[in-house]
Amino acid sequence: MDILVTGGCGFIGSNLACALVEKGYNVHVLDNLSNGKLENIKEYLGNIIFWRGDVTDKNYVDNIISRVDAVYHLAAQVSVAASIKEPVKDAAVNIGGTLNILQAASTYRIKKIIYYSSAAVYGEPVYLPIDEKHPKNPLSPYGLSKLTGEKYAEFYSKFYGLNIVIIRPFNVYGPKQDPRNPYTGVISTFLDKALRGESIPIYGDGSQSRDFIYVDDLVDLSIKILSKNTPQFIALNGACGERTTIKSLAERIKELTGSNSKIIFLPRREGEIYESYADISVAKQLLDFKPVYKIDDGLKKLIEYFKRG
Ligand SMILES: NC(=O)c1ccc[n+]([C@@H]2O[C@H](COP(=O)([O-])OP(=O)(O)OC[C@H]3O[C@@H](n4cnc5c(N)ncnc54)[C@H](O)[C@@H]3O)[C@@H](O)[C@H]2O)c1
Repeated sequence: MDILVTGGCGFIGSNLACALVEKGYNVHVLDNLSNGKLENIKEYLGNIIFWRGDVTDKNYVDNIISRVDAVYHLAAQVSVAASIKEPVKDAAVNIGGTLNILQAASTYRIKKIIYYSSAAVYGEPVYLPIDEKHPKNPLSPYGLSKLTGEKYAEFYSKFYGLNIVIIRPFNVYGPKQDPRNPYTGVISTFLDKALRGESIPIYGDGSQSRDFIYVDDLVDLSIKILSKNTPQFIALNGACGERTTIKSLAERIKELTGSNSKIIFLPRREGEIYESYADISVAKQLLDFKPVYKIDDGLKKLIEYFKRG
């Protein structure tokens, strides 16, 4: 079975592409290398068909999709800050690129499309934990472009009969996440600072919380979606279902790394969501999804990876 992973040189996509090769799938990766690195899939390059190109290039997308049976669509403009600065660029990739994928998928009757949306579609939580029916009021052009992609996916599924699963990842962490990218996940940033003995910055008092999922668990969920029967159209939270405060996270990272880094408290960031965690019962019931990594297990595994260099 031929599987396309768009954004397959990025953090999540490279972990997914490599896991798919290990499962015996014939994997294609489409990436423009704007944020990802070929190095992320280097151990498997002999088994991956790599296409360097852009999801906004309709003819290029058509050509690749005509060769595959299923698509994981991860390629995206992923920075909330960049989406605020350049909403048109964000929409071109996140909406325009997604439309190219959906249109080609309907032309070539692709068996399954798995679209990576984001928990950013929910906006400020109205209740917790956040289930998939939670109101969607995105607070940024990024959240809005992801939600628009979802709505187009729903349209293509209903109108053209495509089998589409939406994943809404919460805060993902793990190997191959770039700690130097200013928009990267908080865990990679804290770990990098702790291992260098640099101060760990917390915006606000650190009582704000997030739901962190280790990338291997998200990959496991993604592969279950491909290999099991799913409804014609469904959205699933990609999360662990547990809340961790930012202050406890910083303290635990210091303990586990034995770091002397200072935790410094900076003014709270305007518009930052205070609390967020997911209800993952739909994925549990539908796919028997069980996240393996509690935050402590994931941190220990990631610290080993960082130390190996
Ligand atoms: N990391 C998280 O915590 C998180 C949370 C919610 C949602 N997501 C979603 O998961 C997906 C993967 O995120 P990630 O963290 O791995 O990001 P990433 O930036 O590491 O990966 C995205 C990949 O897409 C590629 N790309 C970007 N624009 C492209 C274009 N126009 N054409 C082709 N390739 C392009 C980049 O080069 C990169 O390799 C994204 O859709 C993102 O919105 C991630």
